[in-house]
Amino acid sequence: MTSQDNMSEEHLPEAAGSHGGAVAVTGDSFADPGLPPHEHRRTDIDERAAARAERQVALWFVLSMLATVGFIAAYVAIKPDKVVYIFTLGHVSALNFALGMTLGVSLFAIGAGAVHWARTLMSDEEHIAERHPIEASPEVREQVFADFRQGAKESTFGRRKLIRNTMIGAMAMVPLSAVVLFRDLGPLPEKKLDNTAWAAGKRLVNMNTNEPMKASDITVGSLTFAMPEGVHESDADFQEVIAKAAVMLVRMQPDDIKDKQSADWGYQGVLVYSKICTHVGCPISLYEQQTHHVLCPCHQSTFDLSDGGRVIFGPAGHPLPQLQVSVNGEGYLEALGDFSQPVGPGFWERS
Ligand code: FES
Repeated sequence: MTSQDNMSEEHLPEAAGSHGGAVAVTGDSFADPGLPPHEHRRTDIDERAAARAERQVALWFVLSMLATVGFIAAYVAIKPDKVVYIFTLGHVSALNFALGMTLGVSLFAIGAGAVHWARTLMSDEEHIAERHPIEASPEVREQVFADFRQGAKESTFGRRKLIRNTMIGAMAMVPLSAVVLFRDLGPLPEKKLDNTAWAAGKRLVNMNTNEPMKASDITVGSLTFAMPEGVHESDADFQEVIAKAAVMLVRMQPDDIKDKQSADWGYQGVLVYSKICTHVGCPISLYEQQTHHVLCPCHQSTFDLSDGGRVIFGPAGHPLPQLQVSVNGEGYLEALGDFSQPVGPGFWERS
């Protein structure tokens, strides 16, 4: 006999049934104490009490209807700009307050009516539906095992060892394909991100029009995407080149530029930054001209272009690299060299 059985005998016979009745003990098990006798509510035996409860329930539902009418009336009658003073809330929109109150009362009254109905008038008698045993009979279990043995025998899995062993080998090796794919995580880019297609004297070309850009064409508050001249979509390595060299140009009032080096690297308020997010390399595209913030749509890293591309929010770990620019003799914007920082993600070692 287990210690649990001992406990059963020592303590449990004294225990009361779940409803206060004595529990009969038969051997090691307990007899089902069953449900307590049903106690009639007043509304079960008194017709007048039942009628009163019915009226109370109906009253809740009528209150709900009235509140709905009040909601519609408030929506039609109260002007959106009307303000009222409500104790503890202060000055609030009269329309919002009225709509909230009437809708709240309407929903609450339906709930209250339903609960009152259930507690006073709906039957509260509990019934037991016996559940049939879910354990299979010994005959059924024996049949299942017999079928399994028969299936294994007919599959010749045990007899044909060559097939069995090669199948196990094949299944064991399949996961290796996934392991091999880990190789795609490398190799590290090492110096590859240090150099892009930008070089001293390369003009900036508008990515939409393919035209070289003049500083005078860039308006304050605008954001334009550009690439180095000499890069063409038809080039075989276009994607690889543009993935590192894409830049965005903004123009802001020189007084708005907080970072001195940033201002010096631009031209009369035109600043050029890498378009590649320093988190995991998404192209940045959303510019907020009042704050000079750009947002990466992938994970919401936000950079302040007026402050050297500094990260002000999000998972990016590095500022956006800035491209130093000036204008040539014809007024076209040109780079003064490559980026001073590797572009793109910063989760590997940067030189
Ligand atoms: S790639 Fe830009 S925030 Fe993740």
